[in-house]
Amino acid sequence: MTRFAHRAQRVQPSAIREFLSLAGDPRITSFAGGYPDPRLFPMAELHSIYDDLLSAGNASALQYTASEGLPVLRALVAARLTADGMPCTAEDVLITQGGQQGLDLTAKLFIDPGDVIVTERPTFLGALIAFNPCEPDYRSVPMDEEGMDTSALEEVLRHTGRVKLIYTVPDYQNPTGRTMSLARRRRLVELAEEHDVVILEDTPYRELRYEGERLPTIKSLDTSGRVVHLGSFSKILAPGLRLGWALAAPEIREKLSLLKLAADTQNGTLNMRAVAAYLSEYDIERHVADMLPTYRHKRDLMLATMEEHFSAGITWTRAQGGLFTWATFPQRLDIAAFQRDVLMPRAGVLVVPGTPFFADRPEANHARLSFSGVPDERLVAGVRAMGELLAEALA
Ligand SMILES: Cc1ncc(COP(=O)(O)O)c(C=O)c1O
Repeated sequence: MTRFAHRAQRVQPSAIREFLSLAGDPRITSFAGGYPDPRLFPMAELHSIYDDLLSAGNASALQYTASEGLPVLRALVAARLTADGMPCTAEDVLITQGGQQGLDLTAKLFIDPGDVIVTERPTFLGALIAFNPCEPDYRSVPMDEEGMDTSALEEVLRHTGRVKLIYTVPDYQNPTGRTMSLARRRRLVELAEEHDVVILEDTPYRELRYEGERLPTIKSLDTSGRVVHLGSFSKILAPGLRLGWALAAPEIREKLSLLKLAADTQNGTLNMRAVAAYLSEYDIERHVADMLPTYRHKRDLMLATMEEHFSAGITWTRAQGGLFTWATFPQRLDIAAFQRDVLMPRAGVLVVPGTPFFADRPEANHARLSFSGVPDERLVAGVRAMGELLAEALA
């Protein structure tokens, strides 16, 4: 279609969509989705809150409100961020349509066609989907167990013009589950300072921590207002609420608000009222703490089963939080082809082949596995079947 804008060339269905459409089939064991466990949603509490909100005298819950978000919700989010080492007020917070909108708006604010976004290698596919319409170039920086390799980042910053943004998921990253160490967080801020680049810190898994210490956010190390910090209620309450937040310096926050106004006017007032009521009337920290044993158990079970059934030459990450492990296979194995020809037809198992998580120079021998969505027995059976088919393919 020749009438489309130039940016539409970068708006393409992702290669994994056809697989994800199979994930709802009850015969399939899917490690593909990154969905939180629906049994952990606070259904009874939300039921009672919505009942109240929709009773007589509460019509304002269905009215328009400010595009930055419901003031009381902004204040409640600001209080949580302050408690997490990022002192701020309601005015500093923008309520977004999930964390995903924060990615979209930040790219729109900073990226002209040809500007460079630096990402982790691999990175969150949904971020690339959000950034692509702004027509950026990408440079990806390798990671290890301490997160983004800041020496490699330094090289990239030194040798690349037009770097505008560094995108990172420092806590239990999607797709690798890795966490950036404190030393790297500090170095990242120093380098961004030196090269005058904005950091986009994306933290939807931050509170799903199963072991280890909570590290300071990158935003909390920011002394010059160059970090845009994103968070989300998707993994700590429920993704269908579509509520997240952006914390940024006033000049940036104001522009993000205007872009939000252009995009969708505001988030649904009803959901913002509901989440504000939840935060005021219930103990969300307790709710999160209650969820952790379920995910910790799933993670442990998946990693132990991989240990038992995956052959030599296959490695995987041990996430201290979040929902994912990232497996790396011998280079000769193309996981998308293996899934299409062997894993799906013979075992009915789905993973996400790693290729689309690379912003540049994709590698085909990785997969992301989520441990959150599958009952224990099926999880074990699925990982075992995968291990057997892998052994056969690699023999
Ligand atoms: C790293 C990362 N960022 C952002 C998001 C967006 O989530 P939401 O828009 O539901 O808050 C996700 C969702 O999976 C994610 O994994």
